[in-house]
Amino acid sequence: MTPILKPDGRLHLCADMVRRGSRLADIGTDHGYLPIALCLEGKIPSALACDINPMPLKSAQENIARYGLSNKIQTRLSDGLKAVRPEETNDIAIAGMGGELIRDILASAEWVKDETKKLILQPMTHHEDLVLWLYENGFMITAQKAAFDEGKYYTALSACYTGEKRTHSLSFAVVGMLDLEEKVSRWFIRRCLQNYRNKSKGDPSFLRVVNDLEELLQRYEYQ
Ligand SMILES: C[S@@+](CC[C@H](N)C(=O)[O-])C[C@H]1O[C@@H](n2cnc3c(N)ncnc32)[C@H](O)[C@@H]1O
Repeated sequence: MTPILKPDGRLHLCADMVRRGSRLADIGTDHGYLPIALCLEGKIPSALACDINPMPLKSAQENIARYGLSNKIQTRLSDGLKAVRPEETNDIAIAGMGGELIRDILASAEWVKDETKKLILQPMTHHEDLVLWLYENGFMITAQKAAFDEGKYYTALSACYTGEKRTHSLSFAVVGMLDLEEKVSRWFIRRCLQNYRNKSKGDPSFLRVVNDLEELLQRYEYQ
């Protein structure tokens, strides 16, 4: 049978970061594949699959029923984490949305500032803004990976609250916790570098991050 999540794919990165046995809340679940795959695998006993829109939620409900998981995965109409209670979850996944939207969802749920909660985030754009916000608000990035999926590069990261607020440079946030020994991470950074080269044509203040990323990549590629 074809696996629900592509091995090495974008959502697989997220699945790997979910803690075994945790109560997962998948925010913006759409098709529901992340909780379905994790419940089928037996990594988690149950999950909440949430979406702000009824249509994606219906599609999640249909998929959940198709895999016989209606007794394990509850669907819920929810704007971000607004309809989720803190005691219902310990791992929170927010994948496939822009980094700014993920940041806004987290900023509206003060209760995620809890050392026992794990955030699993997969921003499609502006991941660096999300990383900066996380550090400035007392979260620590605990892991970060990159993937090449259907012709595009993606990153996913996990974070937890420590209460220690930090300010970092934009260059630091672009790389985050990615391991540049891994080729796919270097390719992800190369794609970011290209974006910053384009941006720097209209705004020279981005030349700093262009230089930093070029220097960093060179260091890894010629060692
Ligand atoms: C592109 S899909 C991503 C689906 C899945 N998480 C993935 O990564 O493949 C984004 C989903 O987020 C939902 N969404 C957008 N804003 C949201 C919000 N504020 N709260 C909950 N869900 C939201 C959309 O309705 C849509 O189903």
